[in-house]
Amino acid sequence: MRILLLVLTSFIFVLQHSAQTIIPIESSTHAMVIHADQDKRLRQVYFGLRLSNTDEYKDIVRQLRYEGTNEDVFNHIYTPSGTWNIAEPALHILHADGNPSTELEYVEHSTTILDDHITLTMIELLDPVYKTAVQLFYKVYQEENVFELWTMIKNGEEGIIELKKYASANLYFRNNNFYLTHYHGSWAEEMQPETQLLTNGIKVLDSKLGTRANLYAPPTFLLSLDSEANEEEGKVILANLAWSGNYRFDFEKDRYGNLRFIAGVNDHSAEYRLAANQSFETPHFIFTYSGHGTGDASRNMHRWARKYRIYDGEGDRLTLLNNWEATYFDFDEDKLVGLFDGAKTLGVDLFLLDDGWFANKYPRNNDRAGLGDWQENRNKLPRGLNYLVQEANNKGIKFGIWIEPEMVNPKSELYENHRDWVIRQPDRKEFYYRNQLVLDLSNPAVQDYVFGVFDTIFTKNPDIAYVKWDANSIIYNAWSAYLDRQRMPQSHLYTDYVNGLYKVLDRVRLKYPKVPIMLCSGGGGRVDYGALQYFTEFWLSDNTAPVDRVFMQWEYSYFYPAIAMCAHVTDWDKNASIKYRTDVASMGKLGFDIVVDDLDENDLKFCQEAVSNYQSFSDILWHGDLYRLQSPYEKPFACFQFVDSTKSRSVVFSYLVSNRYRANYSVEPVRLKGLDPAKQYQIKELNIYPNTVSPIDSTLHFSGEYLIKVGFNPDVSANRRSVVLEIKEIE
Ligand code: DGJ
Repeated sequence: MRILLLVLTSFIFVLQHSAQTIIPIESSTHAMVIHADQDKRLRQVYFGLRLSNTDEYKDIVRQLRYEGTNEDVFNHIYTPSGTWNIAEPALHILHADGNPSTELEYVEHSTTILDDHITLTMIELLDPVYKTAVQLFYKVYQEENVFELWTMIKNGEEGIIELKKYASANLYFRNNNFYLTHYHGSWAEEMQPETQLLTNGIKVLDSKLGTRANLYAPPTFLLSLDSEANEEEGKVILANLAWSGNYRFDFEKDRYGNLRFIAGVNDHSAEYRLAANQSFETPHFIFTYSGHGTGDASRNMHRWARKYRIYDGEGDRLTLLNNWEATYFDFDEDKLVGLFDGAKTLGVDLFLLDDGWFANKYPRNNDRAGLGDWQENRNKLPRGLNYLVQEANNKGIKFGIWIEPEMVNPKSELYENHRDWVIRQPDRKEFYYRNQLVLDLSNPAVQDYVFGVFDTIFTKNPDIAYVKWDANSIIYNAWSAYLDRQRMPQSHLYTDYVNGLYKVLDRVRLKYPKVPIMLCSGGGGRVDYGALQYFTEFWLSDNTAPVDRVFMQWEYSYFYPAIAMCAHVTDWDKNASIKYRTDVASMGKLGFDIVVDDLDENDLKFCQEAVSNYQSFSDILWHGDLYRLQSPYEKPFACFQFVDSTKSRSVVFSYLVSNRYRANYSVEPVRLKGLDPAKQYQIKELNIYPNTVSPIDSTLHFSGEYLIKVGFNPDVSANRRSVVLEIKEIE
């Protein structure tokens, strides 16, 4: 939401051609072209491959026959309401005098070169009657073909105006067909994809959950233009609203068969008042476009996310042992210290203490009490966190901690002492999600408190090396005592909550820039590129059954790179072998959530070897390019390949996802990607279970050309349900 304008050089770019204003917004390969019509309405007239001669953009308009009547204006770049517009608006304002109409006329624009890779175009529009100004921002990451769009609305009137709908972006696509892939789900079944051909009318995707908005529907989608894209072919958009709250996407097919698209915060119960001269900045809408399929699009998105968005996106990560599923709430100091040895034995970097370590009056021994009371529980941890941190460090491992500072159990001292800090209706029955309520982050005192939870833990225990920041509840009974006291409308709550959260996280990052923090939310209930500015990684789902995870990791991988995806080996599905579970988790940011002492000798030996292998190839996984080779929706196994930037090392993961007779093996080679055709490679199987023999002959050499054109059979079968291959250039 904040703009860091690191202006190196700046220039005004205005093309005036026989009284025409043409605004090209270009990446290194593509362009969006905007034109001001005779009524100074700005309209998007092109989105496609960039022209080498910028001057020719002006000729696009001559080919279009929309002009004439008002009902033909579907391609406005920020469609206002109440005047000529009859389609879904991007902006709806109730002016100070009660008038609900807005017109937006072009004023000026500028394009600033922020550095060698990023440009920022700002377009200013003004209502000629009410003096409400709108600035539209288009930040373009040249090489990654990523466009980041947002809007600033300024009240130039003397009285208060009310924003009823205030989108981040309004786009127009001229194509023959539009195939929308979006996601739905619930706890433990996140990221279920659904693809449909858009028909006339409006398709709305939205969330009204308040906090962990994407529990049911993440603010992310894939849109194929003309025909359905696949990994290698097709025009495709991957998009995300960088906002951890309520959102709304409108896909409106107009009478020309074109697609109007509007993205932003959900306007449901979210009218926002602006006093005179006050401005409002919308969340940022981010998308990448590729004409070469979903593979290219997601590699661009990943590169962009690592370089510009995810906190420490190009750094390294810590492997860990978590105690959640190993103990749940049932532990004490000695039990935990006993588990530290497991982390050491496995060879992971860190022990992560999960929920249940805090609260005294209402001890956190289950999820019904204690949330909000962040003092160590004296019975479980008589010597406090400090002792645990020291003990872990003495054993040569780091120590991490779980917190859920945005939330509260009604059975807690926090609730007793500060009921007015809780989002709840004063005179109504309370409704709970996981027995808890959400704190009112629109209130600066609550922001201080939430920051204080983090700060106090670190002030007292500066050697804590990792945080898992959980957030399990959605917002019911939306009501803020603080907004009421301030005489502010309750409809500010959903927006102010998220901005309040970001203010807290800004403070956390200012003071604690080095700590890795996992964004967790009872599964994949909260992940977006707004939150990931602060977090190094996220928890995809509480469902760690490995076959389910293969599908989920496949879907998440369109939008998020492997370095950010936490994947743990657990006992969720004990029917799956430890090898299969570990091989699946090894494709993300590896962790374990098991009792290491319960592993038999071979399982333990296997895990130790897998951790060591992971450490050897994690740089490829974390910083390299992903190629999705084989979809688990199309064949009984999935295959993912990661390649380093020099094309000299690669790792390939294959997973059987079917138990059906004769469906359970890979009969053919899988064509590899991303390698150098001119290089020679050797292929070696990793993560081989003790006392088994790999059928892969690691003495053979293959040219990159062979592996790309013919491929390689990982030999997945019922006896080899998961296979990890390392491909290395022969020097
Ligand atoms: C939900 C998380 O997803 C789990 O991993 C665990 O941390 C629990 N919360 C703890 O309450």
